[in-house]
Order: sequence, then structure tokens, then C-alpha cells
Amino acid sequence: MPSELLVPDTPIILVLNGPNLNMLGLREPEIYGHTTLDEIGRNCVAQASDLGLRVDFRQSNHEGELVEWIQQAVMNQSVAGIIINAAAYTHTSVAIHDALKMFDRPIVEVHLSNPKEREAFRHQSFITPVATHEICGEGAGGYAKALAYLSKALK
Ligand code: DQA
Repeated sequence: MPSELLVPDTPIILVLNGPNLNMLGLREPEIYGHTTLDEIGRNCVAQASDLGLRVDFRQSNHEGELVEWIQQAVMNQSVAGIIINAAAYTHTSVAIHDALKMFDRPIVEVHLSNPKEREAFRHQSFITPVATHEICGEGAGGYAKALAYLSKALK
């Protein structure tokens, strides 16, 4: 039997980023830091390969596109976990909440800043009730912590 048939598929971690996160680096660096989303994505891909995982790193400014990506993950058993920074949709999106509720594997909610320490309209999260774990206020390093958490949780 060819040896590759004995090797199980590498688990995929879907990393989803919501609106305006494509502007990281330029956008309010005093709050979000200087690291760009491309840099965060590259770091996630490198860390994942060290952990024996594969990262699918995506960003959209459109709520429906994020919902569709989550639905695809629900149907794809190769996706072992989701890391999501829903950005402003965190505080508004019942649609993203409902889509994540269908995903029966671990979900980590990430925010670069700590929304609970900011304006009152950022205090409510529609993601937290469906998330397994939450990482806030760690800047770009929050993504690395989320991957490390998932790697442990999946063992
Ligand atoms: C954010 C916090 C949200 O309140 C905000 O709308 C964002 C980014 C964060 O990563 O700190 O766009 O999710």
C-alpha cells in the first residue's frame, strides 16, 4: 500500500478575519499595532506547519462571505477548528453567530485590542456565546496563542 495512504490528512485551521482588518498596519496603529494582516497570516502558516496543522487564512469585508466560509467549514470534516476575529461584526452579527453555532469543533475568538475596555458598543459579542475560548488584547500575538490553544485542544 502506498505510504501516503497511511498518513491522515493534516487538520485545517480556518482563520477568519472580518471588516477593516485588511487595513492593519495603517489602521489606528496605537490600538491595533503595526503588524499587517499579511504578516499575521504568514506567521500563522509557519507556526501551523511546526504544529502539524495547516492554516487557511482569510479576510472579508462582507458578512455574507464570512457566513458562507463558516458554512463550508461546517460541511468539511478536514477543518478541525476555527479562529475568528469578526472585527466590527462581533458586535452586530446574529448571522455569524448562527453559522458558528452549527460548527461542532473548537472555535477561538480573537481580538487584537480588548473590546471590553473600549466604547460601550464594543462590550457585547455575538461570538463569545458560541466560542470555546477567547483571546483579547494580545495584539497580533493573539493569533499565535489561539493556534497554540487549538493545537493542545485537538490532541
Ligand atoms: C477588533 C475589535 C472590534 O471592536 C473592532 O471593530 C475591530 C477589531 C480587534 O481585533 O480588536 O475591527 O475585533
